[in-house]
Amino acid sequence: MSSDIVITSDVAALAEDMANRLVVMAQEAIAARGRMSLCLSGGSTPKTLYALLAGDAFRNRFDWSRIHVFWGDERSVPPDHADSNYRMAHEALLSRVPIPAANVHRMEAEKADLAAAAAAYEATLRAFFGGLPDFDVMLLGMGPDGHTASLFPQTEALRETTRWVVPNRVDKMNTWRMTMTYPVINHSRWICFLVAGKDKADVLKEVLESADRTQFPSQGVKPDNGRMLWLVEQAAATRLTLARA
Ligand code: 6PG
Repeated sequence: MSSDIVITSDVAALAEDMANRLVVMAQEAIAARGRMSLCLSGGSTPKTLYALLAGDAFRNRFDWSRIHVFWGDERSVPPDHADSNYRMAHEALLSRVPIPAANVHRMEAEKADLAAAAAAYEATLRAFFGGLPDFDVMLLGMGPDGHTASLFPQTEALRETTRWVVPNRVDKMNTWRMTMTYPVINHSRWICFLVAGKDKADVLKEVLESADRTQFPSQGVKPDNGRMLWLVEQAAATRLTLARA
């Protein structure tokens, strides 16, 4: 499994690089399958990308009627909560582009019965993909502890090999999350990590260069047949020794 690692000068350049790649990825997906399935990441790094996609430079380079968005994970909060990944994407992107409401597939992680909500999301995926999802693009971030999506170290979801979407108890944050699992993430056609911030430099070196490939959840992301790209802002790349694309 090969991964391209691209270092960018800052988050704006990272967003610009990913936005240009998404234009091509969308064109290819729509030409091949009549639609693009894009799985969004939460957190703060992708916000710059989402705002750029909604801006004048990119908005009209996508056929939004053919693009379907999903989430790789969600916090157990209502969609209008400040911590909601849906809210961040809605404000930065989805409210600013002509994407049909039916193309926006929100994780209902605010539900009291999170297991039922996760099962319902899995049913949404099954109805859309007809089987194990093969997202055209899976956007991921990475935390300073090496987590990705809501696959945090020492949590149950890391061991899930059957279900596609699960509730996940994150004790260190005293919270529940809903997250996609490795079987779905790894079956994507493109997996794109977007990593920014000097607080990621140490863990990124371990994730990408350590001989022990089992230390961090982000290391469990290994495309079955697809391709993987790491877009890394310079501040997060300072400890890397690998040759870069
Ligand atoms: C979330 C994300 C999470 C995020 C990382 C990195 O729900 O928070 O899915 O996995 O991508 O924590 O977040 P930043 O981009 O804010 O550093």
